[in-house]
Amino acid sequence: MFDLLVKGGRLPDGTVADIGITGDRIAAVGRLDAPAAQVIDATGDLVAPPFVDPHFHMDATLSYGLPRVNASGTLLEGINLWGELRDIATVDEMVARAVTYCDWAVSMGLLAIRTHVDTTPDHLRGVEAMLEVKARVAPYLDLQLVAFPQDGLYRTKTGRENVLRALEMGVDVVGGIPHFERTMEEGAESLRDLARIAADRGLMWDVHCDETDDPMSRHVETMAREVTRHGLGGRAAGSHLTSMHSMDNYYVSKLLPLIAESGMTAIPNPLINITLQGRHDTYPKRRGLTRVKEMQAMGIPVGWGQDCVLDPWYSLGTADMLDVAFMGLHVAQMTHPSEMARCFTMVTETNAQIMGLDYGLRPGCVASLVVLDAATPVEALRLRPDRLAVVSKGKLVATRARNDARLTLPGRPDRMTRRHA
Ligand code: FE2
Repeated sequence: MFDLLVKGGRLPDGTVADIGITGDRIAAVGRLDAPAAQVIDATGDLVAPPFVDPHFHMDATLSYGLPRVNASGTLLEGINLWGELRDIATVDEMVARAVTYCDWAVSMGLLAIRTHVDTTPDHLRGVEAMLEVKARVAPYLDLQLVAFPQDGLYRTKTGRENVLRALEMGVDVVGGIPHFERTMEEGAESLRDLARIAADRGLMWDVHCDETDDPMSRHVETMAREVTRHGLGGRAAGSHLTSMHSMDNYYVSKLLPLIAESGMTAIPNPLINITLQGRHDTYPKRRGLTRVKEMQAMGIPVGWGQDCVLDPWYSLGTADMLDVAFMGLHVAQMTHPSEMARCFTMVTETNAQIMGLDYGLRPGCVASLVVLDAATPVEALRLRPDRLAVVSKGKLVATRARNDARLTLPGRPDRMTRRHA
């Protein structure tokens, strides 16, 4: 007897299987005839492990237009706007916006998020707010918090001290932003410093690294060195890495093996990178996305992150990781069927690997999954379809009716589905 049985779904690898759930764990996968207290009919639908977002800013989310719109559309104006907002936003306001965002995430089958929390202001209200949100949503959504010195580890008087304070308060991951320090050397020193902090405390490390069009921003080289030195491996992630887009190819041929050797992972954020980068260019305008396929060819784990939804840096967003993968697929030109399928894997399994989650659709795994109105991962990318059911830790947490269009055309069917596979 299962508590919950998901019947007849197609898994991402194409196999058709029932999934039996007992408590918060997957008990069995296959042709299952045992009775269940609750049954979800997923016949013909894609059943996938939940979406995962390894790069987000939940302290800023749903604040678009506060204190005013980002007129230039640049990263730097966004940082300035956020610098004003973080000192006037209350803990309650940040908690309310973040919890609303988490509702959106759950409805889209997004059940684990790593969010950078700005530790720059001495009041640390963002940290306080995000710790509260993490505790509040823990029964159904896994949040990882990163201590993120938005204005630089050394560029403000208390930058370093506040990162340490945030870690003491319970923040999970060490952050960093070397390209925003005053000099290249201080950027490199910040990486050496932060790597030691992560290694000494046994923490993960996720750095906003080289989020710039400047091909001479080579902090990822230092980061890879420090990851290798301390043996951090897959516990370390380089976020954005956009300068790699503009680097000299010969230098990149030296760099990629060093990144691969370190075992670190990479998190490009295509929605944000394509809108914020290249803003100083005339034509041709650079895309600003890092070298995704080239890193994957070297065996470097690369996920897709969302970064922003309705905040000083990004005016759109829906908590749908399929939107993120769809944009990434286009900008990185990952159009071969195997590459499109990989884009789906990136926003599920690879992102879960980057965050170090208990994850998967196998017996013994935590029972979290999403049922999509699509037949295959590639069709899911094409349609960004309705999430018909979302199960988190053994409990059904969201449902949505199948949304087929009604037609009134002579001689044509009166219902139309966009599904094709
Ligand atoms: Fe970010």
